[in-house]
Amino acid sequence: MSRLDSMLRRLTAQRDGLNWAAAQIEGLDGDVLDMGLGNGRTYDHLREILPQRRIWVMDRVLQCHPDSTPPAEDFLQGEAEPMLRKLAASGPRIALAHYDFGRGIKHEDVAEAARLSPLIAQVMIPGGLLISGQPLVGFPQIKGPDNIAPDRYLFYRT
Ligand SMILES: C[S@@+](CC[C@H](N)C(=O)[O-])C[C@H]1O[C@@H](n2cnc3c(N)ncnc32)[C@H](O)[C@@H]1O
Repeated sequence: MSRLDSMLRRLTAQRDGLNWAAAQIEGLDGDVLDMGLGNGRTYDHLREILPQRRIWVMDRVLQCHPDSTPPAEDFLQGEAEPMLRKLAASGPRIALAHYDFGRGIKHEDVAEAARLSPLIAQVMIPGGLLISGQPLVGFPQIKGPDNIAPDRYLFYRT
């Protein structure tokens, strides 16, 4: 599969997974967390599908498309570890988190996701949803939408 095909499949799974997860948390109070602002595409999508929720977004740099710039009070700029600790300091509050850290070097991305998993657990409320392009550790995995191959995007209940 070409890298273009692979990217298209990943982005489609990401969008469909986010839409599915947004519907799953209906009736569950809590905020949303997007880990990896990047260009701001997934942040922008989350804003569109969950307009009533507070959406926290994390990245070490602010380099998104100008239209996707988060409000300063919702942007956790810095390395993931201290930013997750900062978010956890006020207690678990996240009903839906999307993990999109990484730079495309699989073994490094997998190791980072495993390392961050215990910190992610500290911000999630019970019954929340975690969706991720990388395997996370310590959360029960659940089946996502039927149209997403199980290895393409991963879904966890917290
Ligand atoms: C794949 S991009 C995110 C793409 C974004 N979700 C979008 O739709 O445009 C990954 C982002 O995660 C950030 N990142 C990766 N590891 C990080 C870490 N440990 N702490 C903070 N930011 C990190 C990078 O700076 C990069 O902007």
